[in-house]
Amino acid sequence: MVTTRKVTPVTSEDRVDEPRDDQSGASPSVQAVVLVGGKGTRLRPLTLSAPKPMLPTAGVPFLTHLLSRIREAGITDVILGTSFQAHVFSEYYGDGSKLGLRLRYVTETEPLGTGGGIRNVLDELTADTILVFNGDVLGGTDVREVLNTHEESGADVTMHLVRVSDPRAFGCVPTDETGRVTAFLEKTQDPPTDQINAGTYVFRRSVIEEIPAGRPVSVEREVFPKFLSEGRHVHGHVDHAYWRDMGTPDDFVHGSADLVRGIAPSPALGDRHGESLVHEGAGVAPGAVLIGGTVVGRGAEIGPRARLDGAVIFDGAVIEAGAVVERSIVGFGARVGPRALIRDTVIGDGADIGARCELLRGARVWPGVQLPDNGIRFSTDV
Ligand code: GDD
Ligand code: MG
Repeated sequence: MVTTRKVTPVTSEDRVDEPRDDQSGASPSVQAVVLVGGKGTRLRPLTLSAPKPMLPTAGVPFLTHLLSRIREAGITDVILGTSFQAHVFSEYYGDGSKLGLRLRYVTETEPLGTGGGIRNVLDELTADTILVFNGDVLGGTDVREVLNTHEESGADVTMHLVRVSDPRAFGCVPTDETGRVTAFLEKTQDPPTDQINAGTYVFRRSVIEEIPAGRPVSVEREVFPKFLSEGRHVHGHVDHAYWRDMGTPDDFVHGSADLVRGIAPSPALGDRHGESLVHEGAGVAPGAVLIGGTVVGRGAEIGPRARLDGAVIFDGAVIEAGAVVERSIVGFGARVGPRALIRDTVIGDGADIGARCELLRGARVWPGVQLPDNGIRFSTDV
């Protein structure tokens, strides 16, 4: 019997078979489903023009990091459960062959929720073992070890669990001493443990058939609590690998910086790590300081003496001389005027921030908005 509170060393004999590469036409033993149909409301206004998993993160759409990790685990057959702005995914990834994947898309005309999204792809599922991923998680977990836990425990569902300092924003998932899940409490204000749902599940295909079809279903609020009340075997795989849900501006900024600095692993990036990442066609003037995992997008311009610390500058944005941008995202083609101060802020695509403006603490500037010079200040000097 394996307990999953500790990370069990896995020998090569224990490992589940490498899934066969589906490019050959053979049917795979494991398929992956990635849920990418959410509206990404907490990342507005950036998600008004692009779905959350397609926002650039260290130079590629966020989803590329997750897909590369799936591919690295030897899984090639991947279905994206899309809804909101579905066409953006297929236009970018096509059949997935550039990433070494066989990628297919199943689109919900009305969002069906996380459980409904999983049920909705059932027709595409031929393998017995189905890995399901929330599409907004940046992680370093070895996917094959989650599969191994599933294989060894013989559970109906295995879920990846991590420990966080504040579990209230997540699904709280206590387990017993054998690693078996005892409850699933989505976003509770009174979490009994700091162990949470990390957003990766292994389902037996037959279990997905039990999810009600044709209506919105939350896997977290409906399916898992029901399975547990019926005494089904739901198992936890706990580890201590890097993990972050990228769903808020704060997490997006920190996750991006962690990728740039190599703190968050990604097979999509290789060894290009450092204090900053400047993409081709971008201009950085002498005297500009780029630190803290700052990323500068293609064709962006950074003026003299600008200071960027943990900044995410999308393609074509302009940061003028002496401006300071800290832990903030500057959208496509936006401009930050001379000596402006931008801290813990999201600036929408094409917005124009006048000289010496100060935007702090969770400010969100909507796309195209123009703030005049000195237009918003926290200090009283002029
Ligand atoms: N296809 C589809 N349809 N996908 C959806 C839908 C839908 O209606 N709604 C949400 N999704 C996708 C989102 O795009 C995202 O990738 C994933 O499902 C999870 O949705 P979030 O909105 O990011 O959920 P969360 O972060 O509040 O909580 C979830 O993730 C946490 C871990 O990151 C829950 O699963 C929590 O229990 C978990 O702790
Ligand atoms: Mg999320």
